[in-house]
Amino acid sequence: MSLYTDKVMDHFEHPRNVGVIEDADGIGEVGNPLCGDIMKMYLKIEDDKIADVKFKTFGCGSAIATSSMATELIKGKSLDEALELTNKAVVEALDGLPARKIHCSVLAEDAIKAALVDYYTRSGREMPESLVGFEPHED
Ligand code: FES
Repeated sequence: MSLYTDKVMDHFEHPRNVGVIEDADGIGEVGNPLCGDIMKMYLKIEDDKIADVKFKTFGCGSAIATSSMATELIKGKSLDEALELTNKAVVEALDGLPARKIHCSVLAEDAIKAALVDYYTRSGREMPESLVGFEPHED
């Protein structure tokens, strides 16, 4: 039996929203120093909504699957909804991840938060409270 759910395998084998947005409004790049995996998220924001999102992940299968699912969960959603995305929600949407792979989903949450921080910084809009002092997790 596989350690991974069908949804994880599906998003690993057919990741959604892979790529780069050239004129992105926010870009977030995070990495995990322990495993060396890197995730980069690009956001296009229109009318306070995530009009488009793309990602590039140099990492393990779970990092690819969680970034793919995270983009699906925020695409078309409001900024407020995107701000609330947690790694737990990503894991649940994938029907679970093995315990030692949970940090991969944290990377996905952090990459989106980092891209949102970049968006608020660049646009000069007031940073939402939940993002003030944001630091990506280190493990
Ligand atoms: Fe580090 Fe998956 S092993 S992100």
